[in-house]
Amino acid sequence: MQSDTYAEVVMQRCDALASCTEEPSRITRPFATPAMACANALVAGWMRDAGMTVHQDTIGNLVGRYAAATPSAPTLLLGSHLDSVRDAGRYDGPLGVLAALACVQQLHDSGTRLPFALELYAFADEEGVRFHSTYLGSSAVAGRFAPATLERTDADGMSMAAAIRAFGGDPMRLAEAARTPDDLLGYVELHIEQGPVLEALDLPVGVVTAIAGQSRIAVTFQGMAGHAGTVPMQLRRDALCAAAEFVLAVEAQARSTAGLVATVGQINAEPGASNVIPGIVTLLLDVRHQDDATCLTACQALRSSAEQIAQARQLTLGWELVQASAAVQCNMRLAELLAQAVEAGGIRAHRLPSGAGHDAVALAALVPVAMLFVRCAGGISHNPAEAVTQADVAAGIMVLGRFLHLLAAARPTDTKSV
Ligand code: GLV
Ligand code: MN
Ligand code: MN
Repeated sequence: MQSDTYAEVVMQRCDALASCTEEPSRITRPFATPAMACANALVAGWMRDAGMTVHQDTIGNLVGRYAAATPSAPTLLLGSHLDSVRDAGRYDGPLGVLAALACVQQLHDSGTRLPFALELYAFADEEGVRFHSTYLGSSAVAGRFAPATLERTDADGMSMAAAIRAFGGDPMRLAEAARTPDDLLGYVELHIEQGPVLEALDLPVGVVTAIAGQSRIAVTFQGMAGHAGTVPMQLRRDALCAAAEFVLAVEAQARSTAGLVATVGQINAEPGASNVIPGIVTLLLDVRHQDDATCLTACQALRSSAEQIAQARQLTLGWELVQASAAVQCNMRLAELLAQAVEAGGIRAHRLPSGAGHDAVALAALVPVAMLFVRCAGGISHNPAEAVTQADVAAGIMVLGRFLHLLAAARPTDTKSV
């Protein structure tokens, strides 16, 4: 079978996974929900069909293993995530899992064993939608899961520990999901680009050089709720007006700093009625840059802005760093092999950084990582309009498959040493 036929299956499977959702008319698949269990069950079946042994680890990642030619061989990790944002597209995450699965299926169909085992991770949480903390699944694998995170609660008041338990995991045994680097060659992830660069260059795939660092901050303005009809404007301590000023300060900061992107993606005003002055407003702020120092400086400047806005309006400010991840450099040797695989397929190897976060960020604490991007229609992602073509998916599968053979031709110990 050609990559095209495998790509057709990947497209069909992305469609099938779209039916695993907690909101019937749109894709919303948060961590450790019945919608995730639905996705894990489908993918587990497909992994078994591709000759893999399958288990779910203690945090809820689905793991398929395709054995090497020899029992004591090292292992290469492949993967991406199966959770989604709210009202998501169907390719962010699943495409990487299913394209890697297609490569394993190709090996299985041709009776090929590599000099290393392949372990395919379908990570349980990359987006952080449910608990506002990203990379839960991949952090556990990297041995970097922060136990304090288990006490976080979701919008319904359920703790993360309880959610993991309800999903069949064990919050007390997360250490068992952690891998040690000794027998691992690295981690390679295929992902939809989620930006417009490859489309502008008319290229189906691109090799990732680095992944931007990011900080997620919960900002709270606390003023005083009051009657919308009786409290004169100059006597108000309106938390939502402060938040509005702050949102524009965030935009101004990002516009005036080269390469900085900053977003307020969620805002909650309490008590939340048209005839009540908002007393408390919480915003979720996301700040990213390829350079960690620039990201930090921007966060500090934004905190000063928030303090000034709060002071001028006699409000109190809460500033909680929910999560921070440093920028990650992809491994040069693995990226070079990916580029060779791209060129072997007759495609110009374009290298580009990633502004989006990926499971590779968490895995980079454990092993060398590399990523391959697949062109994204209009650069649209985190949106149901997210789209890829079957031809581009075929190119992605072809490149990943060639990469595996190039790596097999190199001595695994050489790869480890870079
Ligand atoms: C993950 O999709 C991110 O927020 O970059
Ligand atoms: Mn995403
Ligand atoms: Mn993703």
